[in-house]
Amino acid sequence: MARKTLWNALRVFVLASLLQATGLHATYVDPKVLDACPGYSASNVKSNGAVLTADLSLNGQGCNVFGQDIKRLGLTVTYETDTRIHVKIVDANATRYEVPEAVFPRPAANGHVSPHAAAIQFNYTASPFSFTIYRTASREVLFSTASHPLIFEPQYLRVKTSLPDNANIYGLGEHTHPFHLPTDNTTLTLWSRDAYSIPVGTNLYGNHPVYFEHRTTGTHGVFLLNSDGMDIKITNSGGTSLEYNVIGGVLDFYFLAGSTTDPTAVARQYAEVVGTPAEVPYWSFGLHQCRFGYKNYIDVAGVITNYSAAGIPLETMWTDIDYMDRRRIFTLDPSYFPLKRMREIVDYLHAHDQRYIVMTDPAIAVTEPSENYGAYERAVKADVLLKGPDGNATLGVVWPGVTVYPDWFHPKTNEYWNNEFAMFYSPENGLNIDGAWIDMNEPASFCNLPCTDPFQQAKDQGLPPKRTDPIPDPNAPIFVNSSSVRLVKRDDFLNPPYAINNAAGLISSHTAFTNSKHANGLIEYDTHNLYGTMMSSATHKAMLARRPGKRTFVITRSTFAGAGREVGKWLGDNISLWTQYRFSIAGMLGFATIYQIPMVGSDICGFGGDTTENLCARWAMLGAFYPFMRNHNQDTSISQEFYRWASVTKAAKNVLDIRYRLLDYVYTAFHQAHLDGTPVLHPMWFKYPKDTNTYPIDLQFFYGDSILVSPVTADDSTSVTFYLPQDIFYDFATLAPVRGTGGPVTLNNVSFTEIPLHIRGGAVLPLRAQSAMTTTELRKRDFEFVVAPGTDGSASGQLYIDDGESITPPSAMDVKMVFKNRRLTVQGNFGFQAGVKTSRVRFLGVAKAPKHVQLNGKMLAQAAYAYDATKQVLDVTVGLPLTGPFTLQYDA
Ligand code: NOJ
Repeated sequence: MARKTLWNALRVFVLASLLQATGLHATYVDPKVLDACPGYSASNVKSNGAVLTADLSLNGQGCNVFGQDIKRLGLTVTYETDTRIHVKIVDANATRYEVPEAVFPRPAANGHVSPHAAAIQFNYTASPFSFTIYRTASREVLFSTASHPLIFEPQYLRVKTSLPDNANIYGLGEHTHPFHLPTDNTTLTLWSRDAYSIPVGTNLYGNHPVYFEHRTTGTHGVFLLNSDGMDIKITNSGGTSLEYNVIGGVLDFYFLAGSTTDPTAVARQYAEVVGTPAEVPYWSFGLHQCRFGYKNYIDVAGVITNYSAAGIPLETMWTDIDYMDRRRIFTLDPSYFPLKRMREIVDYLHAHDQRYIVMTDPAIAVTEPSENYGAYERAVKADVLLKGPDGNATLGVVWPGVTVYPDWFHPKTNEYWNNEFAMFYSPENGLNIDGAWIDMNEPASFCNLPCTDPFQQAKDQGLPPKRTDPIPDPNAPIFVNSSSVRLVKRDDFLNPPYAINNAAGLISSHTAFTNSKHANGLIEYDTHNLYGTMMSSATHKAMLARRPGKRTFVITRSTFAGAGREVGKWLGDNISLWTQYRFSIAGMLGFATIYQIPMVGSDICGFGGDTTENLCARWAMLGAFYPFMRNHNQDTSISQEFYRWASVTKAAKNVLDIRYRLLDYVYTAFHQAHLDGTPVLHPMWFKYPKDTNTYPIDLQFFYGDSILVSPVTADDSTSVTFYLPQDIFYDFATLAPVRGTGGPVTLNNVSFTEIPLHIRGGAVLPLRAQSAMTTTELRKRDFEFVVAPGTDGSASGQLYIDDGESITPPSAMDVKMVFKNRRLTVQGNFGFQAGVKTSRVRFLGVAKAPKHVQLNGKMLAQAAYAYDATKQVLDVTVGLPLTGPFTLQYDA
């Protein structure tokens, strides 16, 4: 056995060294080596029904692939709810790192679950130890480690499950992959990285170790609560399998039963574990305009003016790091972005019911005391900085040059951050922002390893850059036109024996050193993947402190599981390419459908490179169906505000008209997501789970429950072929019925100012009767309902309205719209006074002109309704205040 162990270690070592010598740092391990490991034996198994515990003892000497196998492990299996089993395996004799409760509060367990009543079951084989999770009713196996022994070493954990051939797996982000993950030799690496151009197949900014697996027999979910770096490998070789290779922490799995009929159930069950998304302000669904490279305050004011001149509704103006003095956070450049003029801009925006957001990075510039840079001086004084093993602050290089990083685990960091936000973003004498944008929080660094002299590197990289543009006239006229402790010794925190497939190379490359130590003793090695989420949390709190009781709007780049409880996310530095326009749908579905971060969007028209008119027009229209709709690009790219081209202006106006009229529909979906985790966007298979054609589709999706978005996706094309399942749909533009046959539909001559949209039969949509230039104005518009019956002739929908900003709104309207037997009933709680009317109701798919129409049982005069036989639409004028229930019925 000893000789075999040595041989294994040698095989791995040789391969790893070879790869490192070629500049790649990923470790390749022959799967046969791992499968030949002896694994563990379970003993001392005790079960009290809902909880099973066992000791796992290493068989023989183990195989010691990346360190010494740990001899004794503890297994705990808890049936936490009827649909959730928690399987946890830890070192029996030492405390290892676990994701801290403060960052990821553990879900409440119900405590009374009888395993036999649970939808899924845990079963095990004692030696070598393996386990399965299977459906109670059908005995269908969902997860099985049989034939793949468990490996548990100080810096390497391995669990592997067999899967059905070519399994339908979704999740395991953040990545640029199709939504339906390829099963052919795919490695998903979870390690936060500043990933310019979001390259295909590499680790990106966020980490969500959860997947949903869909079969015709049902959908289930598997979540591994672990923040250490990992490679998750899916392969078809020798049968399809999924393997976790993790470089630390413990095995902390949550198995979610999902449902055999409704895929959305698994999303709700995942929300029970990670928390439901934060409710966001109503205004945040408006259009956001941003760019890196607005040169001065006049530029910013000019963009605001130009949007209004073009008649494109702009809700929120953003400013990137350009506003900062030498790119130092919590400062304003006194010449290019002087406080007085910036306050004028913010006041102007607020006076016009518009908003303002700026960027805050985590990295704080290192400065001399003589420079009086308060944010740095106060951070040093409060001692809230991330430190290296020598006790000095960890240095990096970011936009302002040499920087330090806040240690979010330090007990005083929130106070420090709150104070900086309160001062710099003061409504009275600072920049009165309405939301926060946080970036570079992987955390990112431009310092190339070994990074021994960050000062020299900052100099070589010309950071911070000198401003050479002419200083604007400070009086220029604007708006003239309008707790755990790591005990394991000898760990290598910089270069662990198993090298994950980090596209940046070594794990400390272009980030804070992974041997940095947090105030509570945790090592950045384990918590790196939490940095962005912890910054998110601190920023959410700081924004809340500025406007107590009001919902915050924080958009971050790096996320970990559960981040959606407090913030939204943008998909980072994409490129102005058609491929990335297409990939944005899969990226967004990951966050909105699986990771419970539905306030998500990509940089519209693309961040890096130069966009083109056609791409920007198409992207403006697709972007109107991102929950977070923001146009943003790089300082070196051409300008791409929507008003720059006539076709893009028209496309944006057309689609914003639709987005705004649907705003309450999606706001209602967000409210539901906040209540129970029901996704805001749905991939097609969520709605047609038995239709295998839908499983790979990621160029179409449902916005809310019922709007099918089928954008033109081919480069520069005016044709699109999309899929319509066997069902009844209605064209959103004409409202005419379209019968889906379970096959492709081709539309030609789709102009660059149109996007194909369909209403799924079975929906009653609440729409604002007209759009508006701001969301404040929009809230004064009347409603109309569109009744789109399903194949069974019935339909339903929901409308939720509140004040749009309070965390606990004083009142709310929550009504259900139900259509059955040609009768629409609108009823529910009308607590919130929206001050608007139901202007009309349109019934779709009405085969012939009605004889009578009755409102609340009273016959309507014929002038009150019109029937269009070609489109099969019955249009009824209602004109009732939306303050109470009503019914509307037509006779055949
Ligand atoms: C990187 C971000 O991803 C990008 O959106 C931003 O413009 C730059 N940092 C500059 O702040």
